[in-house]
Amino acid sequence: MSDGLDTAEKRGQWSGRWGFILASSGCAIGLGNIWKFPYITGENGGGLFVLIYLACITLIGLPIMLAEVLLGRATQKSPVGAYRDFSAKGSPWVIPGWIGVLTGFVILSYYSVVAGWALHYTWLSLQGGFAGMDAETIGNTFGSVFANGNLNLGWHTAFMMLTIAIVLGGVRHGVERIARILMPLLFVMLLVLLGLAMQSDGFAEAFSFIFSPDASKLTRAGVLEALGHSFFTLSLGMGAMITYGSYLKKKEDIVSASVVISILDTIIALVACMVLFPIIFSYGMEPGAGPGLVFISLPIAFSQMAGGAIWATVFFALLVFAALTSAISMLEVVVSTVIDETRLRRTAATLLCGTAIFLFGIPSALSGTEGFAGKEFKDLTAGIFGEGKGKNWFDTFDYLASNWLLPLGGLMIALFVAWRAGAAAREKGFNEGTRFQNLYVAWLMLLRFLVPIGVVAVLLHALEVI
Ligand code: PHE
Repeated sequence: MSDGLDTAEKRGQWSGRWGFILASSGCAIGLGNIWKFPYITGENGGGLFVLIYLACITLIGLPIMLAEVLLGRATQKSPVGAYRDFSAKGSPWVIPGWIGVLTGFVILSYYSVVAGWALHYTWLSLQGGFAGMDAETIGNTFGSVFANGNLNLGWHTAFMMLTIAIVLGGVRHGVERIARILMPLLFVMLLVLLGLAMQSDGFAEAFSFIFSPDASKLTRAGVLEALGHSFFTLSLGMGAMITYGSYLKKKEDIVSASVVISILDTIIALVACMVLFPIIFSYGMEPGAGPGLVFISLPIAFSQMAGGAIWATVFFALLVFAALTSAISMLEVVVSTVIDETRLRRTAATLLCGTAIFLFGIPSALSGTEGFAGKEFKDLTAGIFGEGKGKNWFDTFDYLASNWLLPLGGLMIALFVAWRAGAAAREKGFNEGTRFQNLYVAWLMLLRFLVPIGVVAVLLHALEVI
């Protein structure tokens, strides 16, 4: 077989530019776009938050994405090897590479639990949805799903098995093939839902909520949340884009590919808002309902809508697809590092890493219970986070990974590529295959100055210094 094959001896490769763009968009577009972005936009009052988020994507996220793809493509290695190849032998710069791998491990372990909720809600929708249920019952459903350890464990197992099965297929025959099927499907489903939302009474109100800036509603914390989310949504700071870049041929244009991926990710996040908010407004729900927006407010709206069960099924299946193409990227980072760093083959590496992540995710699946991962862990961590502010297992690791590990990883990549990597190799890595060589200096300046300052601001915010 040609270079699509990936064994311990031969690295996998995308079939070409579009294979890479679709797989990377699949990696970027996930629960972050459809579940998280709408609810944080709702909580932060819309308009101005969206504007700041767009600025963060363009000025901070995009330069880091380029740095990651460049590092991956130039070295043809996953994060650890990529850092090693671009620095001196024995250099401590491999440490951020390993931290990235660990971050992917941790995020996937609880991401799979949220994806499990999406699977459960798809199942509920298929069975007739929420028709006839009142708002209170639907609200309680979400609470009791989270509290039901066995249910979460079952869906977590199912979702991890699916993820493992795809990654076992390798780069081109697993990851790329599934992205080629699911991503177009996801775009079509979202457009159909957008059509539905546009016909609803709340569309105009929603449109102005999302797009008219209103300074009075935005807090300082909101600004920093916009920045933090731009990392999460573009899958930056843990080496996912390094790994996906490492399967890219040298002749491809990484500048335009990174721009296309960022634009697609942003469009999907905005369209998700344009689907959700009109429905939410039309049925008199609150946009700032928090994490339950997709799992409580939306089902309430669906329960009152003609054909609601069908729309609900489409929506939750879409959420599952988006989550799946992101989850495989996280597993791929861990697996490809193990393949690069040991002599293990893909099958063994995937089964080993997938099982380890599954096991580490079990406490996340049990975090709504009274047991160790839930109530007891909350009491335990109250010693760290302060009295009454204890977090269950799930929240603890989500907090550690999103607030700390991703921004820290992004900062390291920016500093490494901008200041530490050899100037000649960096310039060559950027210029190879692109028509946009004139953007090199602007990109380097952003990466050197604006990006580190922006990221340090997020970290200081998390420390409550600013
Ligand atoms: N970007 C994904 C999302 O929006 C999450 C993700 C983060 C995926 C980091 C891979 C790496 O849901």
